[in-house]
Amino acid sequence: MESKRVAAEKAVAYVRDGMVVGLGTGSTAYWAIQKIGKRVKEGLRIKTVATSIQSEQLAIELGIPVLSLSEVNAIDVTIDGADEVDGDWNLIKGGGGALLREKIIAASSKELIIVVDESKLAPKLGKFHLPVEIVPFGANLTRQKLHELGCVTSLRTTQNKPFVTDNGNYIVDCDFKEIEQAEELQTSINLIPGVVENGLFIRLAKKVIVGYLDGSVQELN
Ligand code: 5RP
Repeated sequence: MESKRVAAEKAVAYVRDGMVVGLGTGSTAYWAIQKIGKRVKEGLRIKTVATSIQSEQLAIELGIPVLSLSEVNAIDVTIDGADEVDGDWNLIKGGGGALLREKIIAASSKELIIVVDESKLAPKLGKFHLPVEIVPFGANLTRQKLHELGCVTSLRTTQNKPFVTDNGNYIVDCDFKEIEQAEELQTSINLIPGVVENGLFIRLAKKVIVGYLDGSVQELN
């Protein structure tokens, strides 16, 4: 928890007056939102957009101004977590099921700062099963098509029912073991009818900040 907090708080140092800030989702982004809340109380003047209903609610509780995406033309910086980060700073995201909104916001952010603890660093992507958001209609058929790409699939569930995203969709977690060609794979996945988006974030991260168990923090170059 400490390693997540130190990474998140270091990232918040990049937030300045007048910015539109993307708020990530998850237990690391939580600490960034907490720190932003403190700075807003101290007088920081920013606007934010949230990558999930959960983060939006937290921000509102902390008194952080949150806008809908339709109210902003550009996002200056987004601070978000990740489930895996490889040596090229390509990511797997979506462990919390927010990958679609996260990717929309990341793709429109001038800067995406990824905050992780050291356990998320991986030589290759794929140990963490790749989340893919799919529409409920024809979910079994879409899952079969994902399987044909060479992975073992499982429909994410909660309390014995399919997990439903903020967008009313399902998540299929795909075990590819090791992902060799991430860029090609994301294209193949997104070409399947019924797939909304996948959790591969290729060349989107501009900074990666890593927190360590001993409380130290490192910005990767
Ligand atoms: C949510 C995400 C999160 O950023 C990712 O799952 C990391 O979460 P945490 O910081 O809790 O480990 O992609 O969809």
